[in-house]
Amino acid sequence: MAKAGRIVAEVLESLREMVRAGVTTREIEGAADAGIRERGGTPAFKGYRGYPASVCISINEQVVHGIPSARRLRDGDIASIDLGVYLDGFYGDAAISVPVGEIDRQSAELLRVTEEALYLGIRNAVEGNRLYDISAAVQRHVEKSGFSVVRMFVGHGIGRELHEEPQIPNYGSAGQGPRLKSGMTLAIEPMVNAGSFEVRILDDGWTAVTVDGKKSAHFEHTVAVTHDEPIILTKLQ
Ligand code: MF3
Ligand code: CO
Repeated sequence: MAKAGRIVAEVLESLREMVRAGVTTREIEGAADAGIRERGGTPAFKGYRGYPASVCISINEQVVHGIPSARRLRDGDIASIDLGVYLDGFYGDAAISVPVGEIDRQSAELLRVTEEALYLGIRNAVEGNRLYDISAAVQRHVEKSGFSVVRMFVGHGIGRELHEEPQIPNYGSAGQGPRLKSGMTLAIEPMVNAGSFEVRILDDGWTAVTVDGKKSAHFEHTVAVTHDEPIILTKLQ
């Protein structure tokens, strides 16, 4: 999982560097697919339940599962890039949200708060804690900042499958849920909306968008629970 996670981290970093006004999301898809394969991995999302690409790119009011296309990124957009890799029997999964050029203050705040919420969640992924300690830490930070956590999608266990038990909601009560044990591997992924948490799916069957049209951000890491600090498997070391 560390090897798969490292590929996710390296390729996501290279995709972050491609983000600028004028680039198409299909160009980012090409680099994602090539970057994964060059490193010996297989794109985890391509063909997953029929998903047609190697990366999800969700712009502005798109929450998750945006399909790469001829659309060009524009100055002021925020682009959420979600990448999964399969290598030697194991999965890694991570996401980042990236500003395109100059973005407005509220969008910058949304990105900052969502990434902070991810790290607050990760900090709670330690042996002896309860699963919803992670969820509660994420929700608390997001809501005190005036934003909302998406309910329709959740984080997940990950390992020999991309999606394993347990589901990891980004909302819940501290002290509840299964007890965390050393060796568990989790994909923690806050999806945060600037306005209401309600989302709907577009007619392409994939793209999730906010019902109110306001922006959304998404950060994700694959982490391993230990008796000590969590290990972030999709972080550039
Ligand atoms: N990172 C997302 C997840 O964890 C995206 C996977 S959906 C896919 O569930 F269909 F694109 F693979
Ligand atoms: Co995931």
